Amino acid sequence: MNQSQPETMEVNVPVIFVIGGPGSGKGTQCEMIVQKYGFTHLSTGDLLREEVNSGSERGARLTDIMTKGLLVPMEEVLDLLKDSIRKSSGSKGFLIDGYPRELEQAEFFEKEVCRCTLILFFEVPDNVMKERLLERGKTSGRADDNEETIVERLKTFHKYTRPILDHFSERVKRIVAVGTPEEVFSKVREVLDDL
Ligand code: AP5
Repeated sequence: MNQSQPETMEVNVPVIFVIGGPGSGKGTQCEMIVQKYGFTHLSTGDLLREEVNSGSERGARLTDIMTKGLLVPMEEVLDLLKDSIRKSSGSKGFLIDGYPRELEQAEFFEKEVCRCTLILFFEVPDNVMKERLLERGKTSGRADDNEETIVERLKTFHKYTRPILDHFSERVKRIVAVGTPEEVFSKVREVLDDL
């Protein structure tokens, strides 16, 4: 085997990147999509928090990055995602929630895993995202649901994630994700029913 070739994976089902700012409703909509379409939901934030909660050395490093609202190194995130995809053989499709966060992550995924089918982008004004997260922070116990970290998460989103939209414009489905979760989901259905 040629050691210089990256390991590739065979994925023959839809792969949907779900992106949007912090609190844009990615997780909420993914749950509704899973109910209707039976896709496998892989949230990079959840995978990273599981690693943190495992008490591993790697988890300790991640905590610091996440509580600063910064991005975890790309290789760490892709490793977790690849493991989860491998464990989900027979899936009808994948919702990759919170990934990619920067253009390089998108390119890396497409090189090492497979081409994404489309990108669902949830567009929500910053002040609405911030209010949602402050409200959730009253009970979530998440170390990053505090005002200071939320401001940093929003900055990180605008600086690193937004450029993906221009680069992949032909595959991006932009959804204005204000209104109730059900109202947002009816727009999501219009996109996914066409797949
Ligand atoms: P992650 O866990 O992905 O956090 P996030 O992107 O900040 O998003 P959230 O999970 O907080 O919000 P969401 O958009 O899923 O909204 P939700 O449905 O929960 O990432 C955390 C950290 O991990 C990052 O900062 C980074 O450090 C690291 N990380 C993750 N992925 C990475 C990657 N790929 N590369 C590098 N680092 C990575 O909703 C939020 C709240 O709003 C809830 O209370 C919900 O009930 C409410 N809500 C939802 N929809 C509505 C609605 N329509 N109306 C009213 N309320 C609503």
